[in-house]
Amino acid sequence: MSKYSEAEALFQELQQQQITVDFLVNNAGYGLFGEFTETDLQDELSMIDINIKALTTLTKLFLPGMKQRRNGKILNVASTAAFQPGPLMAVYYATKACVLSFSEALENEMKGNGVTVTALCPGPTKTGFESRANLGQSKLFKSGVMDVERVANIGYEGLMKGKSIVIPGFKNRLLANSIRFIPRKWVTATVRNVQEKS
Ligand SMILES: NC(=O)c1ccc[n+]([C@@H]2O[C@H](COP(=O)([O-])OP(=O)(O)OC[C@H]3O[C@@H](n4cnc5c(N)ncnc54)[C@H](OP(=O)(O)O)[C@@H]3O)[C@@H](O)[C@H]2O)c1
Repeated sequence: MSKYSEAEALFQELQQQQITVDFLVNNAGYGLFGEFTETDLQDELSMIDINIKALTTLTKLFLPGMKQRRNGKILNVASTAAFQPGPLMAVYYATKACVLSFSEALENEMKGNGVTVTALCPGPTKTGFESRANLGQSKLFKSGVMDVERVANIGYEGLMKGKSIVIPGFKNRLLANSIRFIPRKWVTATVRNVQEKS
């Protein structure tokens, strides 16, 4: 689904079958751990394709119909990674910052149109993400990992309420919201420390 043609084919197929999409969940994505000079460029470009390009394309295809019908909800899965730079996962954090910024901007554009856009920003969650990102030796998933069902339920509730940003878990909310009061360099250094190998 990372290519425009694949998203377009899905959109056309649903149109042909006269299936109206009122809910769009852009969840697909992955991360990659490692210093930028050591990581694989193709893997990172593919990550940008799925984390950003596919999400943007699907939103571009489905949002106009929602606006026209004055009915629709979009859930874009960002991350707590969206709130600060992420040394040792530099590209991943940057993609999620893009998803959060994009979602908040669209939420604003859609006000009064009957459409809501929600950015779900989970912290570390027990899924296939950790192994796909090669995070096995990082400290990131060593504590405070949330259960995926809990995250999904909180995301669903936030989507239905039309919330702009949903951060599951008290600790994740506290961290994400306190970052703006701390010098940016300290935040980046702290993230590096948390990401480093245990
Ligand atoms: N787990 C966490 O700690 C965490 C924290 C914050 C945000 N997130 C975000 O949550 C979302 C879901 O990840 P997850 O934690 O559930 O990890 P996951 O278990 O690895 O699932 C990733 C999902 O993305 C799909 N996907 C990956 N590359 C794809 C591609 N090129 N084309 C189509 N589908 C693709 C996978 O489909 P297949 O199964 O078909 O490969 C799978 O459904 C991601 O956007 C991730 O960045 C995760």
